[in-house]
Amino acid sequence: MQDDLERVLFDEPTILRRLDEIAAQISRDYHDRDLTVIAVLNGSLMFMADLLRRIELPLKLDCLSVASYHGKAQTSGEVLFKQVATPDVMDRHVLILDDILDSGHTLASICEKLATANPRSIRVCVLLSKRKERSRSVNVDYVGFEIEDEFVVGYGLDFGERYRNLPCIGVLRKELMAQPN
Ligand code: IMP
Ligand code: MG
Repeated sequence: MQDDLERVLFDEPTILRRLDEIAAQISRDYHDRDLTVIAVLNGSLMFMADLLRRIELPLKLDCLSVASYHGKAQTSGEVLFKQVATPDVMDRHVLILDDILDSGHTLASICEKLATANPRSIRVCVLLSKRKERSRSVNVDYVGFEIEDEFVVGYGLDFGERYRNLPCIGVLRKELMAQPN
């Protein structure tokens, strides 16, 4: 799998060291609040598991499943909610976790949808944020790493559902992006 990468951006120890820092910051910010984490599946699975185990606070966890890429390397702009019921976040302090902020469509739609359920607050935490102009603006409160506008895989991020189990994050070789599977 690693041979399919053009280059590695972040190896596992680097990712985990950064998660230590973000988790410490989140633990400080929410020490006097009831925290509800909403993780966006499937991309945030590894990130969620490693981050949440570093947060030293009681918290509730719920997951949302959405898709905007439909297996392609380009966003369609349409965000499909696969889980019909929105998690119950009324009066809760909500922290949304996602793998990567790209065009902004996904997180903007999720924030909008969760806001209709009357949470006390909504914050957003992403592992990666692409440096680019976005179709929709999203207020992000915690960012693991900023990256250039390149297609990356590993540590939960996929191309055609592959590479999620790579322990590092890297740029996929361009010729492999022509045909998924
Ligand atoms: P957005 O709606 O364009 O911000 O895209 C967000 C979603 O697209 C993320 O949650 C990822 O699942 C997927 N995505 C965006 N960029 C990448 C990438 O570079 N690699 C893998 N998945 C990506
Ligand atoms: Mg994805």
